[in-house]
Amino acid sequence: MKQVLILGATSSIARAIASEFAREGVNLFLGGRDLAELEHMAADLDIRHGIQAHYGSVDAEDFAAHKDFLENATRTLGEIDGVVFAIGYLGEQPRESADPAAALKIMNINLSAAISLLAPIANILEEQGHGFIMGLSSVAGDRARPSNYVYGTAKGGLTLYLDGLRNRLDRQGVKVITLKLGFVDTEMTYGKRGLFLVASPEQVAKSACQTLQKPSGVYYIPRFWRMIMLVIRLIPDSVFKRLNL
Ligand SMILES: NC(=O)c1ccc[n+]([C@@H]2O[C@H](COP(=O)([O-])OP(=O)(O)OC[C@H]3O[C@@H](n4cnc5c(N)ncnc54)[C@H](OP(=O)(O)O)[C@@H]3O)[C@@H](O)[C@H]2O)c1
Repeated sequence: MKQVLILGATSSIARAIASEFAREGVNLFLGGRDLAELEHMAADLDIRHGIQAHYGSVDAEDFAAHKDFLENATRTLGEIDGVVFAIGYLGEQPRESADPAAALKIMNINLSAAISLLAPIANILEEQGHGFIMGLSSVAGDRARPSNYVYGTAKGGLTLYLDGLRNRLDRQGVKVITLKLGFVDTEMTYGKRGLFLVASPEQVAKSACQTLQKPSGVYYIPRFWRMIMLVIRLIPDSVFKRLNL
């Protein structure tokens, strides 16, 4: 693996993933909104690890600009060996349940942007017959809780979309990894109440990169979330809707 595109590179988890790749000598293209921060990140990765780190501007909601962004990223990298989709937006659920425009923003950033940005990369990887797609999904997509079902719907959709890509691309030699993350200590969760078993971005990044040595598939990080979500999914609807979750 030599060159990887990271979308949502300023995310705390993506930064840690970028460091893991850079430590292995992988050249990176960092995509995000904050060009000044991306410039610093790229310079730091360059200096610390001696890799080539490029960067470019991508706004998840600016769908019309995605084509040019991807053309620039793929041209700059030359061959592309993989992509990490880390863009995400949690929102503030009471607002999203009442306001359709706010709910659509959640869908656009977490799901529609993933489709818009990953579909062209999937075609490139399929044609070349190797590479990987890694998507950062969430345990929130496994069952719709009253307190965050809009975000959960978007992440559940992302999980299904990645399932579809995997079922299409596995036989072409392209790995599709879905990461179902539990709570992680990042800007997204800062100051939120009710979090438990919170992992660090560094722990998550290490486990995320280890999945690339494993078969294409769905991985819970940390692993114990698989059991937790199994139990949560088994709760009957009649009971679940009475819980204060
Ligand atoms: N933290 C958790 O507990 C947790 C749990 C499950 C899944 N996840 C997922 O993990 C991924 C990384 O999240 P994180 O926890 O590291 O949170 P984070 O630090 O808040 O990162 C979110 C990333 O999404 C980017 N983003 C948001 N809106 C965007 C837009 N309109 N256009 C382009 N980029 C946009 C942010 O860019 P800016 O820096 O420009 O804002 C940032 O890079 C997300 O997909 C998240 O849903 C997180």
